[in-house]
Amino acid sequence: MYITNPLFALLATTSLTTALPNPNSPPKNKPVKTQDIINALAGTYTLINTSSTLNNVPIPDLAYGEAPVGILTYSRSGYMSATITATEPALRPNLTFPFQASDLDSDWALVGKHSIGYAGPFRVNEAIPANKTSGQVFHGPLVAANVPTWVGKEQRRNYTIMREGGKTLLRIGSERGGGYRGVLWWKKVD
Ligand SMILES: *[C@@H]1O[C@H](CO)[C@@H](O)[C@H](O)[C@H]1NC(C)=O
Ligand SMILES: *[C@@H]1O[C@H](CO)[C@@H](O)[C@H](O)[C@H]1NC(C)=O
Ligand SMILES: *[C@@H]1O[C@H](CO)[C@@H](O)[C@H](O)[C@H]1NC(C)=O
Ligand SMILES: *[C@@H]1O[C@H](CO)[C@@H](O)[C@H](O)[C@H]1NC(C)=O
Repeated sequence: MYITNPLFALLATTSLTTALPNPNSPPKNKPVKTQDIINALAGTYTLINTSSTLNNVPIPDLAYGEAPVGILTYSRSGYMSATITATEPALRPNLTFPFQASDLDSDWALVGKHSIGYAGPFRVNEAIPANKTSGQVFHGPLVAANVPTWVGKEQRRNYTIMREGGKTLLRIGSERGGGYRGVLWWKKVD
């Protein structure tokens, strides 16, 4: 056979069965593309609840209080932000922004202890198995964070995405060091 078209020549020397995926056989243990995971996470979430454990024993979530509010966002371009605050009036003195000379430092201290806000890029941890429903991400290196030592650092978070009664829920687990662990449940809103 004499082939003049260079494309046909290339195809003729390439085994089609190995060069092209077979649409009829599902991929076996095919690693999920990290962009597909990022796309699966991308969106806006509102906080449902938080819980804390120390050495697997439940403890009160002192930072967030009993009824925290929060918003978590992940973008398809690989950025995230999270903001969570307590809502108890005792933890939320009626302060305004910017701070005033007459404000009590102790009032601002309460606000600082009972809220968190940070943002930056995020990435999928490719060192452990990850797919579109469960795995691990790093929030960071953080560009901005109200906790000064978090700037430039990465926060490791486990994610599990699940459907429940027509809603998409996101469970985020974190190791906080010293045996402390946190679990945060979020509901997807877009
Ligand atoms: C948090 O919300 C999730 C989803 O609704 C629920 O499964 C879980 O039991 C709740 N946890 C706590 C500590 O309330
Ligand atoms: C809280 O501060 C705002 C702004 O100064 C003021 O309008 C409001 O009345 C204050 N509320 C309470 C409960 O003190
Ligand atoms: C995703 O990964 C988790 C744990 O690695 C596994 O239990 C689950 O079956 C996987 N889900 C899919 C859809 O592959
Ligand atoms: C997060 O996932 C890793 C790897 O599966 C696991 O070792 C760790 O215990 C998990 N941490 C939390 C807080 O869920």
